[in-house]
This record gives sequence, C-alpha cells and structure tokens, in this order.
Amino acid sequence: MNNDKNIHPIFSKLVQRSERESLLKQKAKVIWMTGLSGSGKSTLAIGLERTLLNAGKLAYVLDGDNVRSGINSNLGFTEEDRKENIRRVAEVAKLLVDSGVIVICSFVSPTIEIRSLAKNIIGEKDFLEVYVNASLAVCEKRDVKGLYAKARSGLIKDFTGIHQAFEAPEDPALEINTENNSLEQSLNTLLEFVHKHI
Ligand code: ADX
Repeated sequence: MNNDKNIHPIFSKLVQRSERESLLKQKAKVIWMTGLSGSGKSTLAIGLERTLLNAGKLAYVLDGDNVRSGINSNLGFTEEDRKENIRRVAEVAKLLVDSGVIVICSFVSPTIEIRSLAKNIIGEKDFLEVYVNASLAVCEKRDVKGLYAKARSGLIKDFTGIHQAFEAPEDPALEINTENNSLEQSLNTLLEFVHKHI
C-alpha cells in the first residue's frame, strides 16, 4: 500500500461529482450484486444497464468475468486473490461513482469480510448491496458455464459453493430470489429499487 508522504492528491481541485451528477441528471451509486455463480447476477446486470441507458441514465457494469480478463487477469480464486480482485474493483467503482456514473458490480464476492472491504472502500452511503439468491442446487442444475461439473470432477479448485462456502449477506439492501421469480420479475424488482436511489 502506498501511503507515501510525497503523494498529493488533487481531488478537491477537480470538477466535483455533484456537478457531473447535475449534468447527467442522476445520482451516482454502486449497485453491488453478490451471489453464487449461476444465480443470475450477470443477466440482471446486463438487463439493468440496458434499461437504465434506455431511460437516459448513464450506467456501467463491472463484472467478474470481464475484469478477470483484463485488469485482474493475474488473479485466481484463492481467498487472497479474491480479496485483491474485490479491492481493485471497489477502487475502480469508487472512481466511476465519482465520475457520476451508476456502477453495477456483479461479483460472487462470497464472504461478509470481502463485501465489507468493498463497502469500506466505496463508502457506505454509495454502496447498495443486492443479494441475488438462488440455491446451490439450482445454480448447479443450471450450470450455464459448465463450471459446477468441472468443479465436481476436480478440474477446477476453490469453486464457490463446492470447495468454498458462500456466506449470504445478513442485511442486504435488496434480496432477489431468482429461483422463484422470472427474469422479468427479478429485473422489475431491481429496477424499482434502483430508481429510488438514483
Ligand atoms: S470473486 O469471488 O472474486 O468475487 P468473481 O465474481 O470475480 O469472483 O468471478 C467469478 C466468476 O469466475 C464466476 O462467475 C465463474 O464464471 C468464474 N470462475 C472460475 N473459477 C471460479 C472459482 N473457482 N470460483 C468461482 N468462480 C469461478
């Protein structure tokens, strides 16, 4: 970590977030979606971003598989690497929120500790935790990417839900159950919630 005394940030001299929010006619927030692989986070993120854009709102998705193919391509799935993944992503989300954008984060972010790390970096008032809930049995049955099968057969290690636990959020701002609700219902619930905050 760089706490160097020779670093002099210029944040206060720059155009302020409030000015950009006025320009964009929106309030910037981070919608932090957490849940098992296959729970529907990315699908909801795609739908939310598209719907917001169509409504004239500027939103941007940060998704696990995307950032892991770029800025975080050097990270794996050990506890340490997941923490670093989330630390970097939270810092990026913090910059984006300062730019006035509605940031949609879609990460497994499997532990209370890791999500608390994200919340602390982003700041509590900008961090909206959304639990995308589907049981392990259902996610495994869906197995959209074929990863559960690989994890069961030992081809992938450290897989969330199989080798590592997923800790459900204790008090999320919103919980969406994608097991009992259609995609359309889930997206509507999410949109209604997001519109109250932006
Ligand atoms: S996180 O735990 O660090 O937040 P992240 O959301 O970035 O995870 O990445 C999860 C995605 O990586 C999953 O959707 C899945 O496609 C893929 N993946 C590959 N290996 C693993 C693994 N061992 N555990 C979980 N997800 C994995």
